[in-house]
Amino acid sequence: MERTAPLIVANWKMNGLAADIAEIGRIAEAAQAEPTVSVALCPPFTLIAAAALTSPGLSIGGQDCDPHEKGAHTGCISAQMIADAGGELVIVGHSERRADQDETSQLVRNKAEAALTTGLLTIVCVGESEAERDAGHAESVVADMLACSLPDGEVAGKRLVVAYEPVWAIGTGRTPTNDDIAAMHAMIRAQLLKRYGDDGATMPILYGGSMKGSNATEILALANVDGGLIGGASLKAVDFAPIINAAALHA
Ligand code: PGA
Repeated sequence: MERTAPLIVANWKMNGLAADIAEIGRIAEAAQAEPTVSVALCPPFTLIAAAALTSPGLSIGGQDCDPHEKGAHTGCISAQMIADAGGELVIVGHSERRADQDETSQLVRNKAEAALTTGLLTIVCVGESEAERDAGHAESVVADMLACSLPDGEVAGKRLVVAYEPVWAIGTGRTPTNDDIAAMHAMIRAQLLKRYGDDGATMPILYGGSMKGSNATEILALANVDGGLIGGASLKAVDFAPIINAAALHA
């Protein structure tokens, strides 16, 4: 996957049955129409293999992986299994998993290390709650999450991606102001530079949380916003294609 192009990633969460492979095909067509944009889609594990086979021009990935390579971990999916099914990337540390499955930043870091070692592009999600933002702690909370969730330089290599997703903006239709997004992304860039040197200058930083066709152009124009992680507006090609098109304006 080309790292310098804008990166637009669909997170289908717990949505998608075999019948929806046709919709993934329509999203692949929208992706092929904008070759300057890297487009990826993370369906449920059950659809990865079928989606990877039928979607040229679209990278397919998982929404999580286990930190272990293999073994007695009933119900878990390893990074290698995702790659084996045709996946090229994985999302780890999404706030829904941090909340619903009690995932700690240390666990997220272990998952990211497993994914990076396997060769997957690895998207690590961070973001503050509404109470944390209201208390004026958004940047310090995100800085802490980065410090504890990101793997060290020799593992991170060139395949690490950070997604800033304010928890209160996910699925709510609400977004931070452009100034707040730009300030947070600048802080994240500074942390990446400090930690990874030159590699930190080019690691993509995605914005996620109620991104849609009507706000994508202005959000993707902000400094240090290298793409988006999209939930609700990624489920239908008709909603997702305008976001891909908006990203092409910044390619
Ligand atoms: P949303 O979800 O676009 O529906 O707000 C984004 C995400 O959770 O990745």
